[in-house]
Amino acid sequence: MTRAYVPYSRFPVGAAALVEDGRVVAGCNIENASLGLTLCAECSLVSNLQMSGGGRIVAFYCVDGNGEVLMPCGRCRQLLYEFHAPGMRLMGPDGELTMDEVLPHAFGPADMTHLSGGTATTDNPGGNR
Ligand code: THU
Repeated sequence: MTRAYVPYSRFPVGAAALVEDGRVVAGCNIENASLGLTLCAECSLVSNLQMSGGGRIVAFYCVDGNGEVLMPCGRCRQLLYEFHAPGMRLMGPDGELTMDEVLPHAFGPADMTHLSGGTATTDNPGGNR
């Protein structure tokens, strides 16, 4: 959150995730003069996740500039869904939540298995080329 680039909203956001291999990856929001192009902290986090070796998220926490828990926006729930480990915990305002509670009936990787004859896999961090 201290690294956020927020000249327009002045609303810094920080996100951190524990990866199944023990890594901790982080992200911050990165705004843009073309306001709609702003990257949320979760977007930056999943970029860092993939670029640092990939893997699945087992725990996730997002905060605002005061360190208060912040729930991911709708788009970011979808981003997190793509990389969540089974049983991932996400901190909500009243305690831990599951991915299914945060994004019920999600569209996800399982819905795309018909492509490439069902052989597409999300297991290989550099795969699906
Ligand atoms: N923001 C995030 O970084 N993540 C969210 O889930 C919600 C919103 C950022 C985007 C923008 O820079 C600022 O918060 C105000 O919307």
